[in-house]
Parts: sequence; structure tokens; C-alpha cells
Amino acid sequence: MEISTTLTDSPVDDARLAEILSDPGFGLHFTDHMFTVEWTPEKGWHDARITPYGPLTLDPATAVLHYAQETFEGMKAYRHADGSVHLFRPEANAERMITSSQRLALPELPVDDFIQAVEAMVKVDERWVPEGEGEKSLYLRPFMFASEKFLGVRPSQHVTFMVIASPAGSYFKGGLKPVSLWLTEEYTRAGRGGMGAAKTGGNYASSLIAQQEATRHGCDQVVFLDAQEGVYVEELGGMNMYFVHADGSITTPATGTILEGITRSSIITLARQMGHEVTERRFAIDEWRKGVESGDIVEVFACGTAAVVSPVGELRSAAGTLPAPESTETTMKIRSALVDVQFGRADDTFGWLRRVL
Ligand code: PLP
Ligand code: COI
Repeated sequence: MEISTTLTDSPVDDARLAEILSDPGFGLHFTDHMFTVEWTPEKGWHDARITPYGPLTLDPATAVLHYAQETFEGMKAYRHADGSVHLFRPEANAERMITSSQRLALPELPVDDFIQAVEAMVKVDERWVPEGEGEKSLYLRPFMFASEKFLGVRPSQHVTFMVIASPAGSYFKGGLKPVSLWLTEEYTRAGRGGMGAAKTGGNYASSLIAQQEATRHGCDQVVFLDAQEGVYVEELGGMNMYFVHADGSITTPATGTILEGITRSSIITLARQMGHEVTERRFAIDEWRKGVESGDIVEVFACGTAAVVSPVGELRSAAGTLPAPESTETTMKIRSALVDVQFGRADDTFGWLRRVL
């Protein structure tokens, strides 16, 4: 893919950048540039470019605004102590975007083009990659949307793929502390044959009312059950879940309708390497309740790119409050194993890092 580059003539100045990077929060500040490439059936992917970051001008009839035909990804660039900058398993994000795009009837962006676009963004906005202390990183948001001006309901004949980047600190205000969960029994995230396994905006739009319900009940995040039986734990609004048993084994829900996280899959590998037996299976909400009460479940945690690995606190629901298990020992060990690879403090045994700079 040939990428043309037009640099901004008004980059954020060094003093302001230092201020932003000292406390970036999440999703608040954006770098000086953005990447764009267009697709049509006749031309395929074309007109790849890096330009100054700025607003888009969209016709009010642009398809994505009406029918939500879009997909996105979330990944990070990590700065190591020696100054080098690395992506974590970018080919996994590229492949998941292809799967998501197939589900949304969007064109496939080849893995190599996806990685090239993300790398080009990291290179052009390198000064926005924070130092790694405090687990800061540069969050990258590739996304693809139906950009054709047309109100008929059919796959868009003009599609735009973009990458924007945003320096990131802790996803949750207040940093690493247990996240409290609200169990929604009214709303579901994904039905059989639906889009649950795809990373697409509609899934997040439909989660917001449940998240509002969680906030009303004083909880940080919402946990969804399967749509068919309302029995099996699926995931949180933006994170996958893990249960640690007293014998050291670990269970993570698998239902076919969850978003299969790259953090989730990395943790399965790391936990097995650390000697834990890890099972992916359907996991009933009653098994969670009874397990905590009987002491069979000793830790619960959640994971995702933005939020990394976080212990789960109380589970609240219409039926009452289930306390958090006391321990976070295994959670924190797994968390360290993961972030130590990402920030270059541990050997990259599985070849997960891709050096960009
Ligand atoms: N589940 C949902 C609904 C998410 O939005 C995310 C975040 O991307 C995850 C799980 C975790 O996925 P990953 O580890 O690839 O970031
Ligand atoms: C991520 O972890 O990358 C996510 O996409 C979660 C959320 C910010 C949507």
C-alpha cells in the first residue's frame, strides 16, 4: 500500500503535549495526524494517506449514520525503557477486523495493509507515545465505515478505513481498583446469529442503557448473560471475564456470542504457562454465586486492551449483592505477566511484540 503523507503545520506544542502525556486519561486527546484509505468495488482499497487530524465532512445521507455499518479495533503501542516502541499482536487485531467486517458486509482490509497503516500512525506521531511508567501507552483506534451517500439498505459501495491515536493512562477513573458489576437481567448484548462476536459500534450502542442501569445502581460496569436462556455469563460492556478456582484452575466463558479478546487469548496462554489449567466453556451465573459462597471461586477478574486486567469487586443484581472474593493474588500475577511482556520487562517468549521504532 502506497501512503501519501501531508504533515500538519500546527502540531500540538511540546509544553501542551507534556501536560497531556502527564495525565492522558482515556480517549480524550488525539494525536496530530490520522490515516485514511478508501474502498470502492471498482478500485478496491485506494488513496491511502496520512493527513493532519481533523473533523470529517459527511453528507447527512452517509450510510453509517443511518444503518451503523461499521467495525473497529482497539490496540496499543508501548514504549519500552530503552525508548523503543512496540505493538502487541497487531496481526490478531487485523484478523479480528476481517472477521468483524465479514459479519458487517464490509470489505476486508488485508492484514499487511492494516499493520502498515497502524505502524505509519505510530511513526508519524511517535512523540505522542508516552513513557511506559504508570502503564501509559498510545491507544490506536482503527475503524471502518459505510461512507456512501445512499439511504437504501444494502452494503455500502463506498467504505472508509481510518486510524486515529490517543495517549492512554488508566481506563477507569481512580486507576487500578476492583470494578463493581451490575448484572443486567433485562438487556442482552448478543443473540444467536447476531453480531456479538464482531467488534462493531451497534453492540456498544445497545450496551449503553444497561450501563446506565449499572451506574444507577452504583456499579462501574455491566455484566451480560446469554440472550437465549439468560443463564450463562457472557462478558462486560468492554471486557472479557475470568474465574479463578480454589484448586488454581481458571474458567473463562465461551458462548460463541462474546467478543473474543486478544487480551483474553493472551491470558489463556500465559496462565497455562504459569501452570494453571484453563477451560473455556459456558459458565452459569449460579455457578458464580455458589462458587463465591462455597469458596470454590477465589478470584474474579476482567480484561481488555483499554482496561488491561482488573479485579472484579461486588456483583449486584435484583437478587442482592454477592461480595467479591478476598484474593487478587492470581489476578495480579497474571496482570504482571502480561504487562511485563507489553512493556518489555519480560521475555517475549511467544513473539507477541512487533517493534515499530
Ligand atoms: N469484550 C468487549 C465487548 C470489548 O469491547 C473488548 C475490548 O476490546 C473486549 C472484550 C476485550 O478485547 P481485547 O482484549 O481484544 O481488547
Ligand atoms: C478496548 O479495550 O480496546 C475496547 O475497545 C473497549 C472499549 C474502550 C470499547
